[in-house]
Amino acid sequence: MQPVTPTATRYDTGTMFFHWATALLVVSQWLGAQAIDLFPRGPLRVDARSVHITFGVLLAALLLARVLWRATRGRRLPLADKGALNVVAKGTHWGLYALLAAMVLAGMFLTWTRGDSIFNLFSIPAYDPGNHDLADQVQEVHGTIGWIILALAGVHASAALVHRYLWHDGVLGRMLPRG
Ligand code: HEM
Ligand code: HEM
Repeated sequence: MQPVTPTATRYDTGTMFFHWATALLVVSQWLGAQAIDLFPRGPLRVDARSVHITFGVLLAALLLARVLWRATRGRRLPLADKGALNVVAKGTHWGLYALLAAMVLAGMFLTWTRGDSIFNLFSIPAYDPGNHDLADQVQEVHGTIGWIILALAGVHASAALVHRYLWHDGVLGRMLPRG
């Protein structure tokens, strides 16, 4: 892990890339998932679900790379908040990492419990064919974690905006290429 750089005013490009790519993917995945059932049953819906699963696997790879980057070459900055606020900020960040990992695992488990066809090219066999209850329960867990991530990310983004527009400090700017 890198030592803290007290003089730096922003994160390195890699850290920023991982942060914003994750945020974009999470929001697109959530919106995309809502759209799956708008497609008629059949190949089109299979394609829509396959897009969700493929980008889900991409998000898993991105998360792994992000954690590795942060633990090795990512620039570390002094704490943005002090005291209780720092505890809340740290808790939110760790919570987001943990929930994203849980979301990805639940999604993979969901794909496996249901069994699926990916773009009608190859199929993933169901773990327990016909056990719709199990698949429904896993889907509910996956969907619920999704809501929690969205809510926590909303609190997190609001905190970044409070830093910028009420407290007028440079915390949001640390995650932006300029500004
Ligand atoms: C942060 C990333 C993700 C978000 C925000 C997300 C969000 C969602 C949401 C909101 C649903 C609808 C749940 C419901 O109907 O109650 C869903 C369904 C689903 N997700 Fe994800 N998901 C993510 C990652 C993944 C991953 C990594 C996989 C698998 C590799 C996956 C596989 C699925 C599958 C198979 C469904 C069922 C689709 C259907 O037939 O309606 N998801 N996802
Ligand atoms: C789904 C969306 C998002 C997720 C999952 C997310 C996740 C995270 C995580 C896990 C960290 C901690 C990084 C680390 O220390 O390893 C972080 C930092 C940060 N995020 Fe987000 N974020 C999201 C959206 C946003 C948005 C929309 C904003 C701005 C409006 C934002 C602003 C920031 C800032 C400024 C930091 C750095 C805080 C500091 O320097 O201590 N994030 N984010």
